[in-house]
Amino acid sequence: MNKIGILTSGGDAPGMNACVRAVVRVSISNNVEVMGIQGGYLGLIEKDFIEMGPRSVSNIIQRGGTILKSSRCEDFKRGDGRKKAANNLNEAGIEGLIVIGGDGTFQGAKKLGDEWDIKVIGIPGTIDNDIYGTDLTIGFDTAVNTARDAVDKIRDTAGSHDRQFIVEVMGRHAGFIALEVGMSCGAEEILIPEIKTDLNKIAQRIMEGRLKGKTSYIIIVAEGDEEGDAFEISHKLHKITGLEYKVCVLGHIQRGGAPTATDRILGTKLGIWAVEHLINGESGKMIGEVGGKPLLTPFEETWKKKKHIEEMYMDWIKILSV
Ligand code: F6P
Repeated sequence: MNKIGILTSGGDAPGMNACVRAVVRVSISNNVEVMGIQGGYLGLIEKDFIEMGPRSVSNIIQRGGTILKSSRCEDFKRGDGRKKAANNLNEAGIEGLIVIGGDGTFQGAKKLGDEWDIKVIGIPGTIDNDIYGTDLTIGFDTAVNTARDAVDKIRDTAGSHDRQFIVEVMGRHAGFIALEVGMSCGAEEILIPEIKTDLNKIAQRIMEGRLKGKTSYIIIVAEGDEEGDAFEISHKLHKITGLEYKVCVLGHIQRGGAPTATDRILGTKLGIWAVEHLINGESGKMIGEVGGKPLLTPFEETWKKKKHIEEMYMDWIKILSV
């Protein structure tokens, strides 16, 4: 393999830059040229390619976002979009592709690889951590720490004013961020899409807690909870308990900022392993890290199989928040 392409796709995640840096430098050390594809799959369709050298990735390991830019590309979901992308890759002499992103990115990669016989390796990059085949995804640790820092601050004011707060964290379909943030902040309740939420029971616990002298309450809700967003949940709980609930939606601040050491190292390792496997002829798989070791998982399994969620956290926080 003489030339490969690299792109970042879907929601950006802190640590993607560390990963791009590793991919570029390890490829070059193996005498493989690297083209950066800008703006995710849109850049593939529009042939927005740039040559990457060792200096093009200087000074980025500590930066959030992605220097290659990203997008959620509707055109790539269509066959004609992927045909254009495949032609562009052929014309540029790109023999293999590394894609960094989440499940949508891997679904696109699988189709491109199957339809046009293009070698593709995926790297899990999403703050949601909802990808099967890796203990952690790039960006998750930073997002959890960003949200944890925010909730610690909210806890101060909640305590000073004897208030109930509902803090919404990201995760359209997944509660991994909510669980880790809730556990690390000592939240009283965590609401996630994977586990049915019973607002009556929560209201009962809040009222019982008050009788026992508990005067402030932190509820962490994943944006995808079936009872609605933080505002809807605050209205519903207000109706049942008569109490006021302050709402804080953390939103996209969880996606930005300097990556933690964990995300920089994870991005670096996955970048190195991805290049090694791609140039050794592997394709159609995601490289993850499980128990400290590299693991390849076929693309389809990464979104079809469900990653284990620590449901026991839900019981523990009830015991710990007496
Ligand atoms: O997938 C990452 C994520 O940040 C989700 O947690 C969130 O629901 C979604 O992306 C938001 O996407 P966008 O920035 O495109 O609105």
